[in-house]
Amino acid sequence: MKKKYITIALLATMCLSIAAGCSQPAEQTVTDTSNTASQSNAQTDTSKNDKSKPDEKSTEPSKNEISEVSETEISQPETEPEKYTIDNIRNYVVGVNEPVELSDGTTRPLINFDNAATTPVLKPVQQAVDKEFEMYGSIGRGFSQKSNHSTELYNSVRDKVLNFVGADDNYTCFYVNNTTDGLNKLASALVESEDDIVLSTRIEHHANDLSWRERCKTIYAEVDENGRVIYDDIEKMLKENDVKYVAITAASNVTGYVTDVHRVAKLAHQYGAKIIVDGAQIVAHRKFSMIGDTPEENIDFLVFSAHKMYSPYGGGAVIGLKDVLNEHMPEFYGGGIVTLVKDDEQYYKDAPSRYEAGSPNYPGVVGLGKAIDILQEIGFDAIEEHEKRLNRKLIDGLKQLDDIVIYGDTENIDDRVGVVTFNFDHTNSYILATNLSELGGVATRRGAFCAHPYVWRMMNLTQEEIDSFANCTDMNTAGMIRISFGIYNTEEEVDEFLAMMPQMIQESDAVKFAREKVGITDEKVIQDYIQERVKIKY
Ligand SMILES: Cc1ncc(COP(=O)(O)O)c(C=O)c1O
Repeated sequence: MKKKYITIALLATMCLSIAAGCSQPAEQTVTDTSNTASQSNAQTDTSKNDKSKPDEKSTEPSKNEISEVSETEISQPETEPEKYTIDNIRNYVVGVNEPVELSDGTTRPLINFDNAATTPVLKPVQQAVDKEFEMYGSIGRGFSQKSNHSTELYNSVRDKVLNFVGADDNYTCFYVNNTTDGLNKLASALVESEDDIVLSTRIEHHANDLSWRERCKTIYAEVDENGRVIYDDIEKMLKENDVKYVAITAASNVTGYVTDVHRVAKLAHQYGAKIIVDGAQIVAHRKFSMIGDTPEENIDFLVFSAHKMYSPYGGGAVIGLKDVLNEHMPEFYGGGIVTLVKDDEQYYKDAPSRYEAGSPNYPGVVGLGKAIDILQEIGFDAIEEHEKRLNRKLIDGLKQLDDIVIYGDTENIDDRVGVVTFNFDHTNSYILATNLSELGGVATRRGAFCAHPYVWRMMNLTQEEIDSFANCTDMNTAGMIRISFGIYNTEEEVDEFLAMMPQMIQESDAVKFAREKVGITDEKVIQDYIQERVKIKY
């Protein structure tokens, strides 16, 4: 349950520190932990939701009605449908009807618009993982029926992953914990010298930026005024530098832009580089293929996390060229990756084993495999169409609100997955996100989304403003509000969210908040606050 008093206290502290200027020491120097506002809204267990209900599209009652609904009315079906579809999948999302408590003491199911951060587990994924524990044994090391079964399943998911991304025999797949883990493992293996040059872009999540910049020379292609990657800049930088790897995201977690990674692959290969694609935000949203229209357009490496595809068991995968992986060495050493160790010599297995030292994360792999099955069954055409419809409705609705700034292109949105970020001129985004959660039961994310350079660009912040965040805690750092959709979100949820926005904006007015909640009475302090802080959406 949420801790409203703690939140109010945090906001009060924030406003007081705002009044005094930002002086808190940063707890971590470079890490964005900016989802504080919605952390308390985590999905809870499903034990109350296991009564059968016919397979039907869920309709959301209004807020007050929701407080009244009984357990029976919000139950979910137990049985598998004939086919999982975009229209019935909401019935199979664990916790989707679980009530959360609002600050007025009423309860309602959360409207979860924070799917770019992580997705809830699907019931069939949860069931598949639970079932496999019955036949769980040591992977690749044991002599038993259970060990054989687990090993076989563990390895068969590799083929499923390879097939999922259209990879041919030139590729293999090794498992990782998440995208960050996979990118760091790749960077550790592929970078051979501090003088190696990696070309990244200003659209990247820190996982696909810091992993490289901490290991070798990293240069960045710019984004245009709408926030799209400038392909000509990529080509220019490839021409002017001896680039070894291009590291680029397939879809942005800030604007949702889908990059044409096959076009970038062609450029990279033309100039002798290889391409690494951060697939964290693409694989649950659009059909992705390692293979382009021509061999030059093929992707060399892809990394993604299973927790963003409805399997939050800590799984993930790196898909990459076998030959290249076999030429390099892993970040971690240990059991399972060698054929022989002598007193003073050791012989390593080829990829994928070489990159999977230690006992593996079996639930992560089982869940990943089942999540792939379900996503494929629903079909990416349906998923893409559904997301586009939600995006259009949301963006059109937000545009009607006064003083809104929506980041990125709001006209041509076909190249955007379901991610929309925005701010209001007179509103503090931290307060608004908190109110959306506390008063409205809507989970958003607020902050710079671990993509600081991109977010500062989109917000048009000055260097001086950016520098001022160096010693700030997250809540005193500029940010946006992000809505990100999953396959189970509905148009009714978007309508409900839009309908509550005028009240939420009013409640989040920074001056009102400073006066009424924090009790600042000094007009001068309030004016300083507005001028210095609200304009950059602290
Ligand atoms: C584009 C992108 N890349 C990488 C990551 C890191 O993913 P993970 O936290 O699963 O390692 C994220 C997470 O939000 C992301 O959005």
